[in-house]
Amino acid sequence: MLTDFFLKMLNREASSPGRGAVRILDSLRITEGQTIADIGSGGGYFTLEFARRVGVSGRVFAVDSKRKYLDFIRRQSERAGLDNIEFILAESGGVRLPASSVDLIFARNVFHHLPEPARYFGNLRAALKPGGRVAIIDHTPERGLSFVKMFRHFTPVEKIRETMESAGYVLYESFNFLPGQSFLGFGCLDEKH
Ligand SMILES: C[S@@+](CC[C@H](N)C(=O)[O-])C[C@H]1O[C@@H](n2cnc3c(N)ncnc32)[C@H](O)[C@@H]1O
Repeated sequence: MLTDFFLKMLNREASSPGRGAVRILDSLRITEGQTIADIGSGGGYFTLEFARRVGVSGRVFAVDSKRKYLDFIRRQSERAGLDNIEFILAESGGVRLPASSVDLIFARNVFHHLPEPARYFGNLRAALKPGGRVAIIDHTPERGLSFVKMFRHFTPVEKIRETMESAGYVLYESFNFLPGQSFLGFGCLDEKH
């Protein structure tokens, strides 16, 4: 019950007009038939939106380290009549996704939770199709006292960039329309990509 309440709050935050959800979704240039991995899918607001946008010929991997969260999203997706979502429990060492299967890896407000983000995203490279992309949104450090700052729920943009570059990615776009959050797009340096 408490979990459901918390996840509904997460979804309310993700979908609130001030958080720019529609603009985020449009910026991702999602097309029908794509495969998207929503890393740290939480309450699943973005998972379900992705599932609608990729359509019946596409699929979405909802990935989270908490089984209860994935169960919550499964119930929401059944209620919404969406059956193109697969649920993947992240293990402590990382995430197992099929090789060369994903067009877009999306991680919103998750980066700061990862103890070893370079290893985590380095391992995920194998899941990307050639030309695949990674979109990372996280809180930026704010001035003054705030919940985000007190609980260190943020990552400086430079830290994300350095970490991703050390994991074999290259920054190719950056959006600045989210107040208090960065939104970066990465591609791969590998030859196969
Ligand atoms: C602040 S929530 C963000 C949820 C969602 N992305 C959103 O924007 O509403 C962070 C999520 O990351 C998940 N998480 C934490 N560590 C993780 C890991 N190693 N792998 C996958 N998910 C993780 C948490 O369980 C939680 O659901």
